[in-house]
Amino acid sequence: MVIFRRIEDADWPYIEKIEEEVYVPSLGEELVVLQSKYLASPATCLVAVEESEELAGYCLAYPLDACTVPALNSQTKLGGSVERGNIFIHDLAISAKYQGRGLGAELFAKLCRLIREQGFSSITLVAVQEGPKFWHKLGFTPHSELVADIKEYGVGAQFMVRNIV
Ligand SMILES: CC(C)(COP(=O)(O)OP(=O)(O)OC[C@H]1O[C@@H](n2cnc3c(N)ncnc32)[C@H](O)[C@@H]1OP(=O)(O)O)[C@@H](O)C(=O)NCCC(=O)NCCS
Repeated sequence: MVIFRRIEDADWPYIEKIEEEVYVPSLGEELVVLQSKYLASPATCLVAVEESEELAGYCLAYPLDACTVPALNSQTKLGGSVERGNIFIHDLAISAKYQGRGLGAELFAKLCRLIREQGFSSITLVAVQEGPKFWHKLGFTPHSELVADIKEYGVGAQFMVRNIV
């Protein structure tokens, strides 16, 4: 059995470990960058915890204008105007050991329920690595307005969007 809960201070070394494990080095980000996404919106960031209490995955998501793509490895600053319509998924990652068991889809479903309750109406993300196929399965389509250069996200990266119904 897996539980999904908010991030706690003690989770960060494990989140950092999963991030280093599943993303290629060119997509690696500093811990302070990951934490800045959490600090921007703790209520929309989650971890998946296995019965053994091992952290199996995490998701960092925060409110962001639906046409904006943040630069990689850039800290999100607090105190700007908060866009309430759209949520940007910065990372959704499942440790290799736990991949392929439906956990990524469950973590996303949990996030969707949370953000629907909070009144958001859409989700955007940059799908990287094998991500486009996974996100397509979960109802995402390529975003029609790509205003930023996403080359730094790697070959095949796609800016994608999904409405929350
Ligand atoms: C992508 C990732 C989150 C998927 O998590 P997961 O727990 O292995 O995925 P699930 O088991 O929940 O799969 C859900 C569905 O997506 C499909 N899927 C998962 N990964 C896939 C892939 N790489 N290519 C194609 N389909 C994929 C599964 O087959 C499943 O489909 P089904 O419902 O028809 O059986 C995980 O592999 C991961 O963390 N990868 C590294 C980080 C990453 O690239 N994240 C996405 C960046 S945008």
